[in-house]
Amino acid sequence: MITRDTIAKILDTAQIEQVVGDFVNLKKSGSILKGNCPFHQEKTPSFVVNPNKNIFKCFGCGKGGDSVSFIMEHEKFSFPEALRYLANKYHIEIEETQVAAEDKQAQDEKDSLLIVLNFAAKFYQKQLTETEEGKAIGLSYFKERGFLDETISTFQLGYAQDSYDSLLKDALQNGYNRELLLKAGLIKEKNDKAYDFFRDRVMFPIHNVSGKVIAFGGRILKKSENQPKYINTAETELYHKSQILYGIAQAKNDIRREEVCYLVEGYTDVISLYQAGIRNVVASSGTALTKEQVQLIRRFTQNIVILYDGDAAGVKAALRGLDIVLEQGLNVKIVLLPDSEDPDSFVKKNGTDATLDFIKKEQKDFILFKATQGIKDIGNDPIKKSEVIKDIVESIALVQDNIKRQLYIKHCADIVEVPENILVNETNKIRTQHFKKSREFTQEETQDINTYVQTPVNHTQLISKTSQLYHQERDIVRILLEHADKSMTEEHSVAEYVIFELVDIDFKNDVFWKIIKWHMDAYQNDIPFSEIKNLNTLEDKDVKECLIELMSSPYELSPNWFNKHEIVVKGNGDAYKSDVVSAMQRFRYFKLMELMKIMDEKIKTAEQAGRFEEMIAALMKKMELVKTREQLAKEIQTVIHPY
Ligand code: UTP
Ligand code: MN
Repeated sequence: MITRDTIAKILDTAQIEQVVGDFVNLKKSGSILKGNCPFHQEKTPSFVVNPNKNIFKCFGCGKGGDSVSFIMEHEKFSFPEALRYLANKYHIEIEETQVAAEDKQAQDEKDSLLIVLNFAAKFYQKQLTETEEGKAIGLSYFKERGFLDETISTFQLGYAQDSYDSLLKDALQNGYNRELLLKAGLIKEKNDKAYDFFRDRVMFPIHNVSGKVIAFGGRILKKSENQPKYINTAETELYHKSQILYGIAQAKNDIRREEVCYLVEGYTDVISLYQAGIRNVVASSGTALTKEQVQLIRRFTQNIVILYDGDAAGVKAALRGLDIVLEQGLNVKIVLLPDSEDPDSFVKKNGTDATLDFIKKEQKDFILFKATQGIKDIGNDPIKKSEVIKDIVESIALVQDNIKRQLYIKHCADIVEVPENILVNETNKIRTQHFKKSREFTQEETQDINTYVQTPVNHTQLISKTSQLYHQERDIVRILLEHADKSMTEEHSVAEYVIFELVDIDFKNDVFWKIIKWHMDAYQNDIPFSEIKNLNTLEDKDVKECLIELMSSPYELSPNWFNKHEIVVKGNGDAYKSDVVSAMQRFRYFKLMELMKIMDEKIKTAEQAGRFEEMIAALMKKMELVKTREQLAKEIQTVIHPY
């Protein structure tokens, strides 16, 4: 992740006119620049860049923002991509927070481990295909199970002899040392004597995503009471069982192409399905799915179909994986195979087409499956029922997508026969708990939130009547009509000043906004503002009435009206300038108040609905507004009170 400092540096350095200037031909016009909007077709430039505010705005299509949003929109970049682009342009070095910075030694060690594991895989392969023992025992076993040579070679299957230390000897002869073999999990030590970890087993190398061997699983061939069917490499520096899925290297491209990943339990399930042409399949290797494994799948697809045994243990195993998958925002379906079948035996018995058909027909949405399973055997027991509901709600609460979550609630309410609103309430309760638990606020965020809590906005006092904003908007229109052509600064007329000030604000009142737009158009087309006041050419009745009202009434307003609306009236002469400035500032001020009120409502509804990303975003936005408002309040004082 790019550090906060770097982001700040980039935002501080990027100059909007330079950033936009790389793509748009800009012409200076006073203190601003104009050009043809790159986001819509136009002949006369309505695209304005304001270097002082470091923002752009198109009065034609409405697009506006800062350097980052310009690059994002123009280049279709993500936020980080846009940051990188700008960092590159301004030669800013990007600092990133590193996940566990590995020193070189650790990296070297990992490389050595990969090399020795690759050696071991080759060794076991040779044992399988080139030795008499291997061919007679290992290879014939695989053949019996129907594995073709090509499949055996794709998965690099091998054989470990029934011998104490054949791998160890061969490895030492080839220059690998004992310590490395130990670290790779290939040998074990007892009383200072070393021996091969895998003996008398067929070997299943476990590959990482890029296809390198990082561990092994070894299957016993004879039935044995006191030995596990499979033994696997213990955790090593390279191999973390919880982070890898068997078959991912062979399956990843097909997962991407098919847009679904089949999840099975065992090594042989993966291999058999693969051989049958169903290649988008990985195995969790008999354990409950972990978050890291789900994230691994998510790199290739959003859709998981779990293919498990139909027996009780299979169902249980499948359900264990559910919550973790939901939490990661994936779509999960489940297919239960007929009793005591696993995907390996099923595909062998029924063939590829029938297997795919079965998957298609039998796949059930996971949460609905859970609800159906849960409600199945509880009869009329209210306590059991409430437990089941609690359990389902826990799962639903993990679904991040709001629409999906609502749909689940609806369906599950039907299945378990409770009113929908009960599930809604329960879900939101859990989501609130999760949020409070999971979310670690940064120091800045905590500060922001405290400020938010400590800065209650007295809406009733300040903005109870939206009429306040109405009057501010009206006042700006009044100013435009009265003073448009007068000079505001050396370079700009009042109208230009007002238009540039409005670069990032929209009006609420349609009629007022039409009049503003109209001034903008005139400005772009170099039509004198005085001309647009020719009422006879006006077609819009509302605008016409508004103009007549405005042009005939302002001087009739009593001082009381101005007081009431906190609008300061100035005398004649040059005084109109401060009139303009303070009108703009007041407008901004009330606009801010309105936005803050909207944010407060957003925060509240988002929190109630459990949409916390939205809540945080609104919270942050509100904080910005609070700061801006304080700044503006100071400025308004100085403009209002010098007289
Ligand atoms: P299964 O018992 O279903 O085996 O275990 P399987 O994959 O169907 O193998 P075959 O068909 O009997 O040859 C599923 C997975 O659980 C892990 C392995 O990854 C296995 O593929 N497992 C199972 C172990 O790690 N150790 C064991 O003792 C058993
Ligand atoms: Mn099996």
